[in-house]
Amino acid sequence: MSASALRVGVVGAGSMGADHARTLHRWASGAEVALAADVDAERAAAVAAETGARGTTDAHELITDPDVDAIVIASHDSTHADRAIAAVRAGSHPAYVELKTALASGTHGAPLLLHCVSRGVASAPGCTDEFSVTGSAIHEFDTVPWLLDSPVVEVSWHAGRSTSTVTGLRDPQLMLLRTADGALTTVETFLNAGYGYDVGCEVVTEHGTLALTDPARLVTTRPGPAPPPTPPTGARVSPTPTASNSRRGATRCGPAARRRWRRRTTAWWRGRSRRR
Ligand SMILES: NC(=O)c1ccc[n+]([C@@H]2O[C@H](COP(=O)([O-])OP(=O)(O)OC[C@H]3O[C@@H](n4cnc5c(N)ncnc54)[C@H](O)[C@@H]3O)[C@@H](O)[C@H]2O)c1
Repeated sequence: MSASALRVGVVGAGSMGADHARTLHRWASGAEVALAADVDAERAAAVAAETGARGTTDAHELITDPDVDAIVIASHDSTHADRAIAAVRAGSHPAYVELKTALASGTHGAPLLLHCVSRGVASAPGCTDEFSVTGSAIHEFDTVPWLLDSPVVEVSWHAGRSTSTVTGLRDPQLMLLRTADGALTTVETFLNAGYGYDVGCEVVTEHGTLALTDPARLVTTRPGPAPPPTPPTGARVSPTPTASNSRRGATRCGPAARRRWRRRTTAWWRGRSRRR
């Protein structure tokens, strides 16, 4: 384990948890899987063996482990709330919470524009145009009013040139939201971005910008008479709870479609591995 790497604990070693753990292990420079937890000891052990992590059947042990910097929650839906609350109580700070706190401090002035991006590798066969809204942009529809403390009062939807990698789907899509405070938000959904998963949010305020960067760290730029001597610093925070992130880029168009999507995504990663 390298001293500077972000140590990630993965709760739930099923399909998605194992996928996330593999992705972190193989592709995420600067991050490593430290612990894998599953009530099924064999699943925990299998993911741990594959990623060089430690396996446990006790998710609480993982959540409270001081050596774990960030947590992926990929257990069954019904467990997400408890696990996320336990993680926050144990000191994890979802990046969006830091972003909201920074905005609420007033230091950066009023938020004027938000740019949100949600990109995935590939959509499931049979996915419809509507899914970009109901399955992907839905997260921004939740997050933005909460972040700004202001309800969405106006929405427009746009689709331009679509990717040629899929047929019958308008992808990418762009939505423009106006909240009651007058701020404008762009939401880009791109289910077939191909290159990987990418979720971002940048807020342009009266005095600068605040942005979540990979892996969901808060980076703030702010002009002023006394600029900091070093480049803009980022608050080190845990990645956002995966209750929402685990759904991003993935599609939920039925179990069969999900299985096909998983096979396709795995094939994509294998292809990428060979290309490297
Ligand atoms: N499979 C998909 O295509 C897909 C796509 C998007 C999102 N998701 C989401 O990902 C999450 C996991 O889905 P999945 O398909 O990997 O399910 P899965 O059944 O393959 O894996 C879930 C794992 O969680 C474990 N588990 C259950 N309760 C636990 C607990 N209290 N503590 C620790 N581990 C526990 C189970 O033993 C199992 O191994 C779900 O929230 C699901 O909605 C799945």
